[in-house]
Amino acid sequence: MSHAPSTGPVTCRRRGPLRGAFEVPGDKSVSHRALLFAALAQGESRVRGLLRAGDVHSTWKAVEALGARVREEGAEVVVTPPERLHEPGDVIDCGNSGTSLRLLAGVLAGIPGLAVLTGDASLRRRPVRRVIDPLRRMGATLSARDGDRLPPLVVRGGSLRGTRIVLEVPSAQVKSAILLAGLAAEGETTVVEPAASRDHTERMLARMGAPLRVEGLSVTVSPGRLRGGPVDVPGDISSAAFFLCGAAALPGSRVEARGVGTNPTRTGLLDVLRAMGARVELSNERESAGEPRADVTVHGGELVATTIGGALVPRLIDELPVIMVMATQARGRTLIRDARELRVKESDRLAAMGETLARAGARIELFEDGCAIEGPTPLRGVEVRTRMDHRVAMSMAVAQLLAGGDQVVLDDVACVDTSFPGFFGILDRLAEGT
Ligand code: S3P
Repeated sequence: MSHAPSTGPVTCRRRGPLRGAFEVPGDKSVSHRALLFAALAQGESRVRGLLRAGDVHSTWKAVEALGARVREEGAEVVVTPPERLHEPGDVIDCGNSGTSLRLLAGVLAGIPGLAVLTGDASLRRRPVRRVIDPLRRMGATLSARDGDRLPPLVVRGGSLRGTRIVLEVPSAQVKSAILLAGLAAEGETTVVEPAASRDHTERMLARMGAPLRVEGLSVTVSPGRLRGGPVDVPGDISSAAFFLCGAAALPGSRVEARGVGTNPTRTGLLDVLRAMGARVELSNERESAGEPRADVTVHGGELVATTIGGALVPRLIDELPVIMVMATQARGRTLIRDARELRVKESDRLAAMGETLARAGARIELFEDGCAIEGPTPLRGVEVRTRMDHRVAMSMAVAQLLAGGDQVVLDDVACVDTSFPGFFGILDRLAEGT
């Protein structure tokens, strides 16, 4: 698998509005799951539309280290699982990818042997106790640096017992880790969430034949072996979000994102765009491989402030940095609450976006679990520390479009490659209106 990362500083100097149709690369969450679940299955899986980017590359390398064979065949990636996954021969480096690390912890809990999971400086600052505690209750032995708080994470897998686990914070990564361990456990494993996080795991496991039951916010899995098969990855709505939000905030814009995933656990952004007064149209709605998708068109115009909190937050958690950018252009006070999780993503996104947008001229007040943004305010050019956080980098590239021709300098854009190689090319094309 190859991809060409662009590293170092980048100066953004584009002008809006944004116009045109575009396709985004495959959904990151679905891509991780496709590789990992296929590696656990019986029989080959053919994955179409897999995201070719740093984070998914980490999962790719990890499943190879556990004994799966992964090869490219034209537009498809073919995964051939071994009879049983085995203990890795070396430390597994998850790079920048929290999803790789947390989902792998669940899989490794059920594999006899020792595994060490680590990552880059950003990932080594992200909490792992949230997977350690439930997997320990299921019978695995885990430990981590700094009193079990931070990676590297050591997993000694073995026999597991099914347990009922109630999560305090909605988290698709933690839910998925528990369900994957549950496939290898004795008896039933149930996870209950306080609000619905993305359900790609449940959808894909069910399609691959896992004995799985969903009742409201509770998911139960019984032990079983998955069946390989075809997977079709939709476009990533979290990647499309940068252009959709940029277009909404730039009058005269009209962009169409083709073939993006519209799984309702991921479409909080579309609700917010509508609540802020943007015109949003869905067309060509269809379902493929258990995931809905559509072409999404957004028109730019005057925006009004909105309130974001509660069960909406997990449905747009990754879009909040660019929603913060968009909110600077909306009339009134946009309030974001219940988003404390933003503080433990690839960076502390509340601090990063709050500090950077304030320097760019936004009127923003930060809370422990969110922020208030008073708009509309013109933005000005700034120098941005991207903090190894792809979404901070891309959000500020969009913010530059709102800075009236001023330039924004991103100190290092290598991080963009973790989820969205090709981002700047699409931004250029839409800004040129071709
Ligand atoms: C992801 C879940 C989300 C999201 C992350 C990807 C996943 O995190 O922020 O980018 O693929 O499961 P949570 O575990 O906090 O839901």
